Amino acid sequence: MITRLIVMLVVIGAIFTIHNMRQTVLAPGDLPEKFIHDHQVDVFDLPTFEERRERVLAEVEADIIIMSTAANPDFRYVTGFPERQGIVVIMPGKEESYQLFVTPREIYTVMWTGEVYGMERAVEKFGADAAHALDDFEEMLPGLLEERSRIYIHNQDDRIRKMVEPLIAGNTEIHDIAPILHEHRVFKDDWEIVQLRQAVDVTVKAHQYILEAVRPGMKEYEVQAEIEYIFRRNGLGPGFPSIVGSGPNSCLLHHTRNDRVLKDGDVLLMDVGASSLGGYTADVTRTIPVNGTFTPEQRKIYELVLNASEQATNKMKPGYRMLDGHHLATDIMVEGLYEMGLIPDTTSWWQKRFYIQHRINHYIGLQVHDAGEYGFDTDARNEHILTPEIRGREIKPGMVMTNEPGLYFMVGLLDGIHEMFGHLASEEELNAFVEKVRPIYEQYEGIGVRLEDNILVTEDGNINLSAGAPKTIKEIEAAM
Ligand code: GLY
Repeated sequence: MITRLIVMLVVIGAIFTIHNMRQTVLAPGDLPEKFIHDHQVDVFDLPTFEERRERVLAEVEADIIIMSTAANPDFRYVTGFPERQGIVVIMPGKEESYQLFVTPREIYTVMWTGEVYGMERAVEKFGADAAHALDDFEEMLPGLLEERSRIYIHNQDDRIRKMVEPLIAGNTEIHDIAPILHEHRVFKDDWEIVQLRQAVDVTVKAHQYILEAVRPGMKEYEVQAEIEYIFRRNGLGPGFPSIVGSGPNSCLLHHTRNDRVLKDGDVLLMDVGASSLGGYTADVTRTIPVNGTFTPEQRKIYELVLNASEQATNKMKPGYRMLDGHHLATDIMVEGLYEMGLIPDTTSWWQKRFYIQHRINHYIGLQVHDAGEYGFDTDARNEHILTPEIRGREIKPGMVMTNEPGLYFMVGLLDGIHEMFGHLASEEELNAFVEKVRPIYEQYEGIGVRLEDNILVTEDGNINLSAGAPKTIKEIEAAM
């Protein structure tokens, strides 16, 4: 009897302690040290941006490059200038070869819209040889274009194009600077890697934090708030709209309504990324069980995706091509689905396509899907997704990309199969597939699993920048 009483008291004490620990973690203003990121990272670094401009100029025989913030983030890549409005003019060989046109620092502007750098600090801080008021640009443009016959502007910059075109004559050529900048942006310089590390580290902290905070009954937007709270407490914000999908919503690839109540027994998919001080975004996804323990069905899908993710990482290195990891991950997932009876015929393109929804990698950087060529047509009705012969460009050091395999058992997807593949398979074939697969599919319906890491390619391999976010089943269940 006494032993029973002692055991009961110990259990009640433990429950209390766990409950209180949770309260401590969640209390605003009382964030444990482990969730604070202590790196010193700047919003700007003058030599980095000077070196970038030199690199670009070494490649193009430009007499003049003109770009405005309409061409962001390329404008920001070249200047580091973070305001909403600005124009850059680069004229190699001229005395004032780097000029910025910016919002003047007038007292009413500052009072109503907040601090701006103004012309003086555009020179001091951002290294311009000369800075002018934005409003003076149009008037100064004819002078700037004098004797300049190779002009580079940006294809997103309609306003600049409309101003420049009437002023040119004779053998003047207008070229697009965008593809050149996009190729440079594929290879991150040291400063960009520091930025990406900051963004990823803070995102990892948010993923670690949420494992302690999640419980059934929360709303998806509360989870979003907790995650973004960690971003904000570390001085950052989200780099893209946070995707927080529980239960059936975990299967919706870009679910951002985030308005459902988390239920006991759901999985919870969180695809989130902080943006660094210099504007570089992380993109890290984890999928966890809302109640702390995966069901056998969730575990099965999770392990398949986890294995695909881990194997694919080995092919995101110099010596491989962009899609090699994706094709390997796809083979692993298809094989697993075949063994589960979910793909009766692995030679059928559409049966595989029913489960494989997206490729596993895209660049990250100033944009969550960063600029740059992949070496295949990313728009081609996703042909590359299941075509192993399409391998894309070579992977090279300095690239930073995601590794994000996923499997999604969307509710009602089987009923949509005629809409999806009616042009590829007969009514009878589709019905036979549905009949065969439905009893198994239904066991997994409402489970979506995506695991996404951020991979920095190095000279001799790669570094998983987001390795700190718990990922194995054991790590996740232990942390929860
Ligand atoms: N993380 C959101 C996306 O890649 O689209």
